[in-house]
Amino acid sequence: MKTRRLGKTGYDVSEIGLGCWQLGGDFGPVGDETASEILDAANDAGVTFWDTADVYGGGLSESRIGAHEKAAGVHVATKLGRGSGLFPDNYSKDGVRASLVASAERLGVASLDLAQLHCVPTEVLRDGQIFGWMDELKAEGLVRHWGASVETIKEGLICLEQPGCATLQIIFNLFRQDAAKALLPKAAERDVGIIVRLPLASGLLSGKYDKATRFDESDHRSYNADGQAFSVGETFSGIPFERGVELVGELRGLAPEALPMSQFALRWILDHPQVSTIIAGVSKPEQLADNVAASGQKSLFPALMGQLSEWYEKDVKPEVRGGI
Ligand SMILES: NC(=O)c1ccc[n+]([C@@H]2O[C@H](COP(=O)([O-])OP(=O)(O)OC[C@H]3O[C@@H](n4cnc5c(N)ncnc54)[C@H](OP(=O)(O)O)[C@@H]3O)[C@@H](O)[C@H]2O)c1
Repeated sequence: MKTRRLGKTGYDVSEIGLGCWQLGGDFGPVGDETASEILDAANDAGVTFWDTADVYGGGLSESRIGAHEKAAGVHVATKLGRGSGLFPDNYSKDGVRASLVASAERLGVASLDLAQLHCVPTEVLRDGQIFGWMDELKAEGLVRHWGASVETIKEGLICLEQPGCATLQIIFNLFRQDAAKALLPKAAERDVGIIVRLPLASGLLSGKYDKATRFDESDHRSYNADGQAFSVGETFSGIPFERGVELVGELRGLAPEALPMSQFALRWILDHPQVSTIIAGVSKPEQLADNVAASGQKSLFPALMGQLSEWYEKDVKPEVRGGI
């Protein structure tokens, strides 16, 4: 597994990381045994960056990670700001501290490796007070580093102005390419580590679904398919599901024949050198090995990267809902 430096944290992390929203049961039920097998598989494969949040399964994802023996060098990032009564307009330094203390307890650590603001409203980012609290909580030792997970490029640019911001988590994939030009160069300039979420557009880009696919009612791909519960951009990257299936059909015609679709999608992201790590979400242990294999694949040819960019601008971008 190849590693990359995670911005100002200085951590050396695997370029394929692990998204742990699934361990909270928001992609359909995941039992204790499967959760443990996924974390074992991550340890075995050298996946050393794990992403979770206080709200995933109401703390279940963090508790499962906390209870699991981690291989040396694993860094666990969590998030705050959507739970603990903070969202949408009740943010305070004490509230943020209490949320982080609870996360640290569930994760079984005294100090968090990385705490990320979790899609807090744009006005809260604009106001900026919350960044000062994060600097202070870092100085207190509760967090080693802090960063932000954002929904739009505009929000990302606000965070990049903060000297204390070590990492930025963004949606970036073949269905959401704008950050390549609008954000990544500036992040690199500021030495802010880029963490990529939704690399497979909630699984769509793996190519395994068809228009008849249905998801469990406990799965956000069922209850938030059109943004009924939270930002539509967080589910299928904001692309209407059936249109997404058609677009994946178009992509198949562009992908190198020997490359599985999932690895093609991950390789495209890795071919942006400003990306530090991709937190691919996994609901079955066998998916992990497939995702990790993308790290060993050859880079895509520049001509193909150009074609994919043109295809995105013309066929995909007009379909994205929820803001870019
Ligand atoms: N606001 C935020 O900060 C925020 C929001 C969303 C996500 N995240 C983080 O980002 C992580 C990644 O995003 P995501 O999980 O939403 O989307 P994702 O990584 O694009 O998609 C995950 C889904 O893709 C499928 N999959 C994964 N590997 C596969 C493979 N090799 N072959 C076939 N299918 C595969 C699985 O679907 P099936 O379950 O159908 O098998 C899996 O549940 C999350 O786990 C979470 O940690 C953060």
